[in-house]
Amino acid sequence: MNWGYDDGRETVEAAAGPERFPLQLYQALVESTPLDGKVVLDASCGRGGGLHYLAVRHGPAAAIGLDFTGANIKLCQRSFGNSAAPISFRQGDAERMQGVEDGSVDVALSVEASHCYPRIDAFLATSARVLRPGGHLLWTDFVPTESVPELRAQLAPHFELVEDRDITPHVLAAMRADRGRRRDLVEQHSAPFLRPILLNFAAADDRCDTVERFTSGRFTYFMFKARRRDS
Ligand SMILES: C[S@@+](CC[C@H](N)C(=O)[O-])C[C@H]1O[C@@H](n2cnc3c(N)ncnc32)[C@H](O)[C@@H]1O
Repeated sequence: MNWGYDDGRETVEAAAGPERFPLQLYQALVESTPLDGKVVLDASCGRGGGLHYLAVRHGPAAAIGLDFTGANIKLCQRSFGNSAAPISFRQGDAERMQGVEDGSVDVALSVEASHCYPRIDAFLATSARVLRPGGHLLWTDFVPTESVPELRAQLAPHFELVEDRDITPHVLAAMRADRGRRRDLVEQHSAPFLRPILLNFAAADDRCDTVERFTSGRFTYFMFKARRRDS
């Protein structure tokens, strides 16, 4: 459910199948942040594949997936409910994270979802609430390029930014590498009248708006890794 990441390395083995590039975005996000034995929370887990991949590959003590959409949570539970990995899913709002105890999380993630959050300040304050002091927020998404400094300013009261990257070229590379599969999915599974919209969303060629907004520089795909301040 994300556009993926490709920096030329095969950080997720090709054998992982068609979801390799979206999984590589999760993998790039956690690179340099050990998850072994930690409590990891994904504030918007979607269909759950990214979080499940991390739970299998990185050995956290617990991986908790939240998502606003009940149908996604049901799908996660069907897909991964019997997994041997220590993973669980519940419906929730990234701006409130109901039922998640203060200071109970070591690493919080948000992947290609915050553009849907009406209040980024609430998401950041809540992330700071559930993280232990020194815990990490790993956050990646796209925004209009002029909004990136404002996001940094919103982070600052709660978090120290330890890594700040523009990953737009790597997201574009993944869009290009994965476009044949996405085009086939749209063509096989959608009604003809919906295809133009879905092909645009799937970044199916360089002329569509989804791609053009990145190639033109209008939008930036950022990756922030931030440490919760002590107080
Ligand atoms: C593009 S999908 C990305 C899903 C997943 N992170 C991934 O990369 O595969 C965005 C997800 O954000 C979820 N979402 C949107 N607003 C949310 C909110 N306020 N709280 C929790 N999840 C939310 C949507 O339901 C959707 O599953």
